[in-house]
Amino acid sequence: MDVKNKLAIITGSSQGLGKAFAVELLKGGAFVCLSDVNTQIGEKALSELKERFGDDKVHFVECNVLKTEDINKLYEECENHFDKSVDIFCNNAGINHTKGWRLCMDIDIMAVMECTEYVLDKMDMRKGGKGGLIVNTASLAGICPGLSRDSYSYYVAKHGVVTLTRTLVAVKKFGVMTPEYVAQAFFKLVTRCGTGDAMIVLKDVPPFIYTDYSREWTFVLSAGSKLAHSVFGVDLFTPKLQMLFLFVVFIVIHFVLCLLF
Ligand SMILES: NC(=O)c1ccc[n+]([C@@H]2O[C@H](COP(=O)([O-])OP(=O)(O)OC[C@H]3O[C@@H](n4cnc5c(N)ncnc54)[C@H](O)[C@@H]3O)[C@@H](O)[C@H]2O)c1
Repeated sequence: MDVKNKLAIITGSSQGLGKAFAVELLKGGAFVCLSDVNTQIGEKALSELKERFGDDKVHFVECNVLKTEDINKLYEECENHFDKSVDIFCNNAGINHTKGWRLCMDIDIMAVMECTEYVLDKMDMRKGGKGGLIVNTASLAGICPGLSRDSYSYYVAKHGVVTLTRTLVAVKKFGVMTPEYVAQAFFKLVTRCGTGDAMIVLKDVPPFIYTDYSREWTFVLSAGSKLAHSVFGVDLFTPKLQMLFLFVVFIVIHFVLCLLF
């Protein structure tokens, strides 16, 4: 998306990453509405960015993402102030686990979901919106497992943010199917497939059977474990040894194929 003249809202943008994101968007020619629960640093950031990019380019609205009425007010006040509709909404406000797991979950995932629901509705082209972009600030904690019991809420919340983002992309990507379309796949499942078959039905993709290779995979790993035990006395077939085993199998297959052809 070319951000020139686009309107962006960033939650939790009085400081840190949110403020830095605002600067980049402003440099790209966008209009930015800063927002934060902390109005003192918010007003400070506003004057700094106004001085740097111009009074008409940036605005600040107080918003505690835990409050539904604040989220609504942020969106509406932003559109009224700039007299245009929002193109980019960044769910950035976040805290770590140190203030307790419940608050961490409330701000880092529940509020992100609430804002996302609200913004999706506003941007929905079927409801008169003009589309747009939602950006969620996650973390490496949204991809890797946690390191301690103290911090698990942060990891759980950020994993939620990553899954939410990926799920929404997948929904858009595959689109909505009509009952008749799904029924055609259903008929193929009944008339041409076997017991235990799991069929995947996606828009504009011929239906296919989702094969579960876990049994075959278990068989391959069992063979590897037995071989490693009998040849090298290995008593635990770790992931690293499994990789080594698969690499050796691949080399052997490659060698045999080269000899044959
Ligand atoms: N800084 C990092 O290294 C890092 C790494 C990975 C992810 N993140 C994520 O980036 C985002 C921003 O983090 P940061 O490091 O810039 O933190 P920060 O503390 O500098 O900024 C977060 C801002 O969110 C605001 N905020 C907190 N609770 C709020 C609420 N209820 N409503 C509205 N605003 C609220 C704070 O007042 C603050 O201004 C967070 O979601 C964080 O989890 C940060």
